[in-house]
Amino acid sequence: MKKILTTVATVVALCSAVSVQARPLDAIQKSGSITMGSEGQYAPFNFFRGKELTGYEIDVAEAVAKKMGLKYEWKAVGFDALLTGLAQDRWDLVIASHAITPEREKAVSFTLPHYCSGGIIVAMTPAIKTAKDLAGKVVAVQTGTTYLEHVKKVPGVKEVKNFPTDEAARNALVSKRVDAWVTDRFVAKEMISKNAKAGFNTGDMLFVEQVAAAVSKGNTGLSDAYNKALKELIADGTIKAISEKYFHEDVTCK
Ligand code: ARG
Repeated sequence: MKKILTTVATVVALCSAVSVQARPLDAIQKSGSITMGSEGQYAPFNFFRGKELTGYEIDVAEAVAKKMGLKYEWKAVGFDALLTGLAQDRWDLVIASHAITPEREKAVSFTLPHYCSGGIIVAMTPAIKTAKDLAGKVVAVQTGTTYLEHVKKVPGVKEVKNFPTDEAARNALVSKRVDAWVTDRFVAKEMISKNAKAGFNTGDMLFVEQVAAAVSKGNTGLSDAYNKALKELIADGTIKAISEKYFHEDVTCK
């Protein structure tokens, strides 16, 4: 028994010795560069133009980093891996349109929001517009999103189909493999304005949400510095200008 306990103690000690901690602000400042994670498949918030990661929240995060006096480096991975990567110290901050939810707040700390939006119904027919119209229907959503959580709660939905990206969920709608797609209202708006003849119809917003960047749980040094910079950039009109470039309107929370 004693031997087992000693072994357990050794394993625990070894694990904590190699366990990585998210970098506090002073370590980031010392290195001069912040590592940020995003997805790159959620236009116009985060997407690739050729090899370059760009979009509203990419520009916002780069402006914030600059204001903080930091250089930055991007890592683009699947949406599902982003928040867990914070705890593993793979990046210092994640910005990929995560809404602030009580569930996520158990695992990470959120900054102030960089936009306010909500989930909207999109269909290829004007007949599917409201939550009630989703009864008996098959609905596409991206895995791990708030859209999935909300659509699951809509009474009578026949099936909620999960897709690894929001674009794949949209494609399922286009090819009529599903009856409706629930996505962000600004994603839908931009997509429809660029594909006016494709036959998309938007319906009601199912819920509203505040969207923010996330840092590892309790990394308040970093989130405080980020928030201070973001507030200054909102006050001086920088964020509004970035927003108008992508959405032709100001998407920040009023
Ligand atoms: N706003 C939604 C959420 O909080 C969707 C985010 C999707 N983001 C992305 N990069 N695909 O879950």
